[in-house]
Amino acid sequence: MKKIKTAIIGAAGYTGGELLRLLLHHPSCDLIYVHSNSQKGKKVYEVHPDLIGETELEFTDKVQTDGIEAVFLGLPHGQTKGFLEEHPFPTNTVIIDLSTDFRDESDGFVYGLPEVHKSKIQEAKKIANPGCFATAIQLALLPAIAQNWVNDTAHITGITGSTGAGKALSETTHFSYRTNNISVYKLFTHQHLKEIRQTFRQINHDFNKELLFVPYRGNFSRGIWITAYFPYDGDLKTAVQTYKDFYQKAPFTWVSDSDIDLKQAVNTNKCILHLKKEKGQLIIYAAIDNLLKGASGQAVQNFNLAFGLEENLGLNLKSLAF
Ligand SMILES: NC(=O)c1ccc[n+]([C@@H]2O[C@H](COP(=O)([O-])OP(=O)(O)OC[C@H]3O[C@@H](n4cnc5c(N)ncnc54)[C@H](OP(=O)(O)O)[C@@H]3O)[C@@H](O)[C@H]2O)c1
Repeated sequence: MKKIKTAIIGAAGYTGGELLRLLLHHPSCDLIYVHSNSQKGKKVYEVHPDLIGETELEFTDKVQTDGIEAVFLGLPHGQTKGFLEEHPFPTNTVIIDLSTDFRDESDGFVYGLPEVHKSKIQEAKKIANPGCFATAIQLALLPAIAQNWVNDTAHITGITGSTGAGKALSETTHFSYRTNNISVYKLFTHQHLKEIRQTFRQINHDFNKELLFVPYRGNFSRGIWITAYFPYDGDLKTAVQTYKDFYQKAPFTWVSDSDIDLKQAVNTNKCILHLKKEKGQLIIYAAIDNLLKGASGQAVQNFNLAFGLEENLGLNLKSLAF
């Protein structure tokens, strides 16, 4: 099988580490180089010790653009645009960016949420991978938005693991702060609300209801749990069937008839949903792994789509579960 010549920029970070873990074993991927300014010359397993025995690749600070068919960028927000201006890749290179820089679909980027944009991703050369909270919230609400069921404020709470904030240590990712603790941040103002609204308006042009989102920092390292609810007159059975129909062709998004928990999704590229109706509200739970379906897993899913491969190639992963 012909392999796709691939590079990872920002490969020493958390999403970069997960991309490495997935792409080293992807049957259609040939990792040509992995870029890091701070770790140049080091073996991959010296920086990502979980990859010992899997590769002899070393990090480089050189950026090769010619001959690269796919490039993944896992740089901090605001860095990708400048990086691509400094290092222009050939127009036929597939660029998959994990930052927020192009999620507004500027500069010819397609927003890469396969559950909605699959046919556009299959044609795309530039893909803006969705945010982690944004992925879980959109998948929790999209079928309801498409049905025009959200006619009042939708309330959303979400809790994320510490890896969501990247590898560099900060006050709120420090063990002493995070452990045995919980805290709210960016109350009602989280930056992912912008891309969430953008998709909701693409599938329901008139959507203008309030989305009140309370994001929490959790005291665990991986995963995102979302609870979303809004007033709903219909019956639960109809809602569940509507959600199952909406995601019928989505290989990673599943509606569970039983209660769910976070660890079912951690270390997989799945989004697992569960619906309830209580006190006139439709309640949706969503669980994802922030680094997989919320970042690197979804990026590989987009890579598969852009190259006409099986959507789930290299992504059949075992959940943590217990
Ligand atoms: N963490 C998540 O759960 C998650 C989920 C969805 C999306 N994202 C997004 O994905 C991106 C990467 O996140 P992350 O968590 O992997 O961050 P991270 O752990 O902080 O890693 C970012 C990497 O980017 C490199 N870098 C920084 N500035 C650079 C520059 N100007 N040029 C080249 N390389 C540079 C750094 O490596 P060197 O210093 O070694 O070069 C660093 O290892 C962010 O935009 C983030 O918002 C993250």
